[in-house]
Amino acid sequence: MANPIYILNGPNLNLLGSREPEVYGIETLVDLEQRCVRKAQRLGRTVDFRQSNTEGDLVGWIQEARTNASGLIVNAGAYTHTSIAILDALLACKVPIVEVHLSNIFTREPFRHRSYVSQAAKGVICGLGGLGYELAIEAVAAAVSDA
Ligand code: DQA
Repeated sequence: MANPIYILNGPNLNLLGSREPEVYGIETLVDLEQRCVRKAQRLGRTVDFRQSNTEGDLVGWIQEARTNASGLIVNAGAYTHTSIAILDALLACKVPIVEVHLSNIFTREPFRHRSYVSQAAKGVICGLGGLGYELAIEAVAAAVSDA
């Protein structure tokens, strides 16, 4: 059995569904996880879907992904725009990495336009809500098969 695709979600994404629904939609984190599980199943893959509000948890999980994941999808939430620790962990992780955001970070406040995560990502998907996660799974699955 191939290693799972890790899908790591950062701070405040546990509040999806009730947090600024006009920006992030009404889908909950559980809905999003189920959507990802179904998408992966259709592609013959599995996902390990996690969320934490703590930077250190995300760093630890990215380190774990080096050996235990076939690919990595990251929505680091606000840490996207601030965390060199997450960038360094991602740079040490040689599996295909896709960055995802539910909202279009480039049409929002200027401080959201810079992403540290992007420097380590093969690609970036933003502004497409939960569909972006499905597209990221497709991209990671394709990158893994090509390797
Ligand atoms: C987000 C965008 C970030 O700027 C924000 O801090 C989030 C969510 C998104 O999915 O659109 O928490 O990553």
